[in-house]
Amino acid sequence: MGDSPDTTQSSGAGAGGDRASGRARHVAIIMDGNGRWAKKRALPRALGHQRGVEAVRRLVRGLEPMELDCLTLYAFSSENWKRSETEVDDLMNLMRKFIKSDLREFIENDVQLNIIGDWRSLAPDIVAMLEDALAQTANGKRKLAVALNYGAQNEIARAAARAAENGEITPDSISANLDTAGLPPLDLLIRTSGEIRLSNFLLWQAAYAEMLFVDTLWPDFKPEHLERALDDFAQRERRYGGR
Ligand code: FPP
Repeated sequence: MGDSPDTTQSSGAGAGGDRASGRARHVAIIMDGNGRWAKKRALPRALGHQRGVEAVRRLVRGLEPMELDCLTLYAFSSENWKRSETEVDDLMNLMRKFIKSDLREFIENDVQLNIIGDWRSLAPDIVAMLEDALAQTANGKRKLAVALNYGAQNEIARAAARAAENGEITPDSISANLDTAGLPPLDLLIRTSGEIRLSNFLLWQAAYAEMLFVDTLWPDFKPEHLERALDDFAQRERRYGGR
């Protein structure tokens, strides 16, 4: 291919990372394995998701020393509506609780919440809660992006439609219209639980990202796992299609 990626588009498929130190700036995680974590312990799936939220909280608390600029988490995909009504309700209720209980801490810890996906079509009380949380954390310097009702193909289609409305459809104009437009380029995409697929997550942004698939089930994922992933990333040689 030999193309050098665009480094000016913040959310594009271009080069990311702090290239001098080799550190990743933007990591995204497909948090998989809550159900299997619960099943292994003969517990209800809802408890697996509850422990999944605790893993999210641990990770957000551990972010500062890792010097990451952005962590993006796949919390609810546009395909997750196919799950039982009870499970969807459980996940939505966990989201409500999480925002209520952790918003103060985000503000105190300089965390800026971002939401990607078609989140405005969620229940009106959740939309209102998220809008409030976005406004209250707008000045935070470390970004936490939560993907809600997110599907990458839909995101790309929406971005292309917006790009076409305003001019030409090009890789840059699509990048600039993605939900991730304000986030740094994606460096590393991690999926937990041993599954090796992208499940319609950040397909555009992952064009030049490194991938890491780990066997750990999401509720067992700790800041140390992310530290290890960041060390692994720093060892990799990224060529972006060049030599
Ligand atoms: C995958 O596990 C996980 C999800 C579908 C949801 C992820 C959600 C959370 C961690 C909690 C909500 C997040 C926030 C930010 C409040 P699975 O149920 O597919 O697990 P399985 O494949 O083992 O069944």
